[in-house]
Amino acid sequence: MSRIAYVNGSYVPHRDAAISIDDRGYQFGDGVYEVVFIINGKMVDEAPHLDRLERSLSELSLPMPMSRAALRLIMARIVRLNHVTNGLVYMQITRGVAKRDHKWTQPLKPALVVTAKQIGKDVAREVAAVPVITVADERWVRRDIKTIQLLPNCLAKQQAYQAGAYEALMIDDDGSITEGSSSNAWIVTKKGEIVTRPATHKILNGITRRTVAAVAEELQLKLVERPFTLKELSEASEAFLTSASSHVTPIGSCDGTKIADGQAGPVAKRLRLAYIDKVSR
Ligand code: PDD
Repeated sequence: MSRIAYVNGSYVPHRDAAISIDDRGYQFGDGVYEVVFIINGKMVDEAPHLDRLERSLSELSLPMPMSRAALRLIMARIVRLNHVTNGLVYMQITRGVAKRDHKWTQPLKPALVVTAKQIGKDVAREVAAVPVITVADERWVRRDIKTIQLLPNCLAKQQAYQAGAYEALMIDDDGSITEGSSSNAWIVTKKGEIVTRPATHKILNGITRRTVAAVAEELQLKLVERPFTLKELSEASEAFLTSASSHVTPIGSCDGTKIADGQAGPVAKRLRLAYIDKVSR
């Protein structure tokens, strides 16, 4: 079965999907994206993803390429055409095509690409704890905008891959952990407090992060939004990651040193289960 992609008004076989070499997304990384988790054929947190997309666009003075209702129809159709039951929808909007020039002198027609892929028959309710490494956070200051300009994130993830790790946690100039290269980072302190960074310009305000925070509240767990350091992570009783593609994933070690006993912790396990239950309803 061949995959189908949506590109600027057409549904085409994935391998034939193409964008101009003068697209500003290709030339300058001038665009934004979203990744939405699909469970049992249903889009998870679709509205908050579209809210974040609209916000990212507006921060870059980019218009929505079409109404939100029209975009939702395309997303649903791409999920259907690709027979995705458990997977991800990817959508990307770039400023459009123009002769290469850093500035743009007139509004362009934004380019829209939507794809979907299956990631497995079922979503695992339990996963093993993963190793992470740390790297310096070398990104620009507006990490709250979900731009396609991901070079520091890619270099960080590649470093993790080469070290046999799952993710790279990025460390800011002040020594605090900002987030993972494609995920938000959390710890559970020895006192039982769940800690994650507040949603400022320093991190991407993950949609999974927000839903997991709501789940923690429903479970009456103590949640504190504040930055935390590498030392706090190494002394934590648990640590975990959240994202649309990893849901809630426990961290077993950081830079080769175990976090607690190195196994998935009870809070991360409980949050993962409760999150999957909540979003599959
Ligand atoms: N990444 N932080 C960064 C830097 C991210 O790239 C992501 C998501 C997150 C988590 O956000 P959310 O919970 O909305 O997925 C945090 C996506 C999955 C990606 O780039 O593929």
